[in-house]
Amino acid sequence: MSEWRPDSWRNRPVVQVPNYTDKEVLKKVEEELSSYPPLVFAGEARNLKAQLADVAEGKAFLLQGGDCAESFAEFHPNNIRDTFRVLLQMAVVLTFAASCPVVKVGRLAGQFAKPRSSDTETIDGVELPSYRGDIINGPSFDAESRVPDPNRMLRAYSQSAATLNLLRAFAQGGYANLVSVHRWNLDFVTKSGAGEKYQELADRIGEALAFMEACGINPNDVRQLQGTDFYTSHEALLLGYEQALTRVDSTTGDWYDTSAHMLWCGDRTRQLDGAHLEFLSGVANPVACKVGPTTEVDGLLKLIDKLNPSNEAGRLTLITRFGADKVEEYLPKLLRAVKAEGRKVIWSCDPMHGNTKTSTSGLKTRPFDRVLKEVRQVFACHRAEGTYAGGIHLELTGQNVTECIGGAVAITEDSLSSRYHTHCDPRLNASQSIELAFLLAEALKEEREALAKNAAA
Ligand code: PEP
Ligand code: CO
Repeated sequence: MSEWRPDSWRNRPVVQVPNYTDKEVLKKVEEELSSYPPLVFAGEARNLKAQLADVAEGKAFLLQGGDCAESFAEFHPNNIRDTFRVLLQMAVVLTFAASCPVVKVGRLAGQFAKPRSSDTETIDGVELPSYRGDIINGPSFDAESRVPDPNRMLRAYSQSAATLNLLRAFAQGGYANLVSVHRWNLDFVTKSGAGEKYQELADRIGEALAFMEACGINPNDVRQLQGTDFYTSHEALLLGYEQALTRVDSTTGDWYDTSAHMLWCGDRTRQLDGAHLEFLSGVANPVACKVGPTTEVDGLLKLIDKLNPSNEAGRLTLITRFGADKVEEYLPKLLRAVKAEGRKVIWSCDPMHGNTKTSTSGLKTRPFDRVLKEVRQVFACHRAEGTYAGGIHLELTGQNVTECIGGAVAITEDSLSSRYHTHCDPRLNASQSIELAFLLAEALKEEREALAKNAAA
């Protein structure tokens, strides 16, 4: 096999990347990006990998979430703050209920490029290239917006840098202290009708914090309570951009894609000999790959060989996304094979992408009960196979949008259009996300108790 290089993907078949008309401008932009500072540091990606190794071993849980697609139009500090805040609220609930660390990874600060099921979109007889995310072209349905523009990569880079800067400040600057996060959860429980049933769990967290305070453990004195580790991730789809941000780490001599701490390969681009897996196979970041109904056992084992040949714990996360009714048919055989072969992977559940449907009004939506059903099915399969459901991957926002139907503050098909803001797939809103965390907390607690019992037997 030929040696891996940041550009060796260019010799492989590539799908889902735009056909830029002006190759000169493309080259100039990619060269410019190659000279820009890295967005993340190799040491941070290694720290994340070490934390993910704990997840792979059943000692921690991965919470990954954020926008389906970040957009230039919705770039605002409040949006970043609110998504970050929801993820922290969810993490506190999960940490407490399952008594295990939660590794927090945002789909943020770089999640711009989108794979599409069709190259073109037709409205009223007019056919235009599909929208592929703000890093590539514009969402408006006019010919000019839909032309892929390399300069958009520079804007995506600068938006990612500013987003990351704010996230770092939030994570370490005092905003994310545990007492504040608990107070936000109490607000959710007392002020939203959705929260009432979770009063008891919230009270127990409050008691634990009061006990710690009485023992002299509080955010003023204890660094771990003052802030949190927070990492970024996105789909490594636009390989020219990813290549431009790939650098050698001077400490280890390894290549790192410095556009995010963690990168994943989507369901449409995971061809074994294709460009996307080739690129990800050579960077030392923690990586992930989506796994769907078309993933065969044999192909999955080959994919694991390709992305994690040394069987390093924390290197590879498999994100399963089947659809609530398909989990039982597809997941157990994959769990069994990977376990039998002794491969160290994290199994994370994406209950969003297999459960999208079109509402009566024509908007794409996801019913909250289907999302929840997929999560429950996935936990049940892992329980039956003696494997660990180690993570969850969600499309969510801290905004009060109406994109997914259901939840305790029931959003109906009729009300979908009132605050439907997504540029791509429908996201859980803040209240639906926190509710899901409370529901998930119970499942995770049971799972961990069962694992402990098996280990003792
Ligand atoms: C996504 O995560 O936004 C996505 C496109 O998912 P998938 O590749 O699983 O369809
Ligand atoms: Co999506």
